[in-house]
Amino acid sequence: MTETRPKQGKSVFIRTYGCQMNVYDSERMADLLKPMGYAPASAPDDADLVILNTCHIREKAAEKVYSELGRLKKAKARRADAGADMTIAVAGCVAQAEGAEISARAPVVDMVIGPQAYHRLPELLARAARSRGAVLETDFAVEEKFDRLAAREADGPAAFITVQEGCDKFCTFCVVPYTRGAEVSRPVDAIVGEARALAAQGVREVTLLGQNVNAWSGAAPAGDNSGDWRLGELCRHLAKIDGIERIRFTTSHPRDMDDGLIAALGEEEKLMPYLHLPVQAGSDGVLKAMNRGHTAEHYVRLIEKIRAARPDIAISGDFIVGFPGETNEDFEETLALVETVNYASAYSFKYSRRPGTPGAAMRKQVAEAEKDDRLARLQALLERHRTDFNAAQIGRALPVLFEKPGRHPGQLVGRSPYLQSVHANAPDSMLGQIAPVRIEGVTPNALAGALNDEGEDAA
Ligand code: SAH
Ligand code: SF4
Ligand code: F3S
Repeated sequence: MTETRPKQGKSVFIRTYGCQMNVYDSERMADLLKPMGYAPASAPDDADLVILNTCHIREKAAEKVYSELGRLKKAKARRADAGADMTIAVAGCVAQAEGAEISARAPVVDMVIGPQAYHRLPELLARAARSRGAVLETDFAVEEKFDRLAAREADGPAAFITVQEGCDKFCTFCVVPYTRGAEVSRPVDAIVGEARALAAQGVREVTLLGQNVNAWSGAAPAGDNSGDWRLGELCRHLAKIDGIERIRFTTSHPRDMDDGLIAALGEEEKLMPYLHLPVQAGSDGVLKAMNRGHTAEHYVRLIEKIRAARPDIAISGDFIVGFPGETNEDFEETLALVETVNYASAYSFKYSRRPGTPGAAMRKQVAEAEKDDRLARLQALLERHRTDFNAAQIGRALPVLFEKPGRHPGQLVGRSPYLQSVHANAPDSMLGQIAPVRIEGVTPNALAGALNDEGEDAA
């Protein structure tokens, strides 16, 4: 937050849907617009520019955009009555997937900007001001996008850094390879530069983002002749930056979980003991039809190997129920895999048929009622494991990075190494600091505890 008045007194409201990469992109769009005089607006109705940064992953996510556009149409009309303008932009993955269809379906839209084109926002805004129809920009130019981003501003002690974008895996259910394009890695120097800038502003924790973050690769920096690096080397390198105390990365793909990264998880203390490693399903037949490129056994072995390297690691995952052809027996194998792995947390979804993906054309689509039933059963099991995992923290002292004030006066909220929200009474001066908290209680979505007395061990 800044108190300086914008140059031209304009305001922008950005609504973000979907994954953390969209959260990162929204922050960067705000950084880019700030020098142009755009300050954050508190509500879309008050904004000169509204950007919907959209997600196309499931039908429901994509449809949300159109209901929001319906509301914005009214807000835009109200503003016009009051003599003010509102520019409406659709950015992100729906923009990429649907392009000009969006402005055909919702003529209120002034700009359609794909996820690899938002660095062109300044020129697009100028074009939109001159143009009568909607302005469309959905080219892929990932490296150029990162090169042209404005200086990074930190917002709190934990920050995201996109290190990799796009996906070459083509799982048969998924739109990401089409909306984000091919796998691209950002160079080491750019990532280190961003991490240093964030650390200098008080950031203590960085989460490296990528649709396939562990597919990241890059040349070692000049003067280091260790050749090509993978994510493990990058993490070890970032761990040397003063001020960076915690490193996370997400989302990983089982096929890219190489030995170097597993070793880094075991040896680098700044790497947090938490790994999001989606498997989607527990049946080899379904995994094959999904084009995941590995079996259930391969995945379970991989988890064993990771746990051998880092015994306290918490595993999280994603699941899809009701992929075309999934039988009840197949689904039982998903439940069995979940029992074996024992996830600390997980996301689970009903299969959503996405236009243009091979899964959408497959016969033997599963009935909606069957998907509902499987999802309820899976979620009950995952929830039991999550609750058990959280309850197991009671009595332990967990190092917590305090990120913001809590709901009650005198309280701060932070994150444990396992990404749990933790509430504790602590002075504001501890914001941005890591301190041990003795966990005393568990609520459905958080842990509560007390600052550990001095001298006690943070076990
Ligand atoms: N790149 C990551 C995740 C991308 S999307 C990975 O490979 O794991 C995030 C999650 O959304 C996926 O893991 C999957 O569980 C879910 N998802 C993707 N496409 C979906 C679809 N068509 N229907 C339902 N869930 C889907
Ligand atoms: Fe989608 Fe699969 Fe790529 Fe993940 S790995 S983004 S699920 S295609
Ligand atoms: Fe959604 Fe695009 Fe992310 S489809 S999940 S916003 S990569």
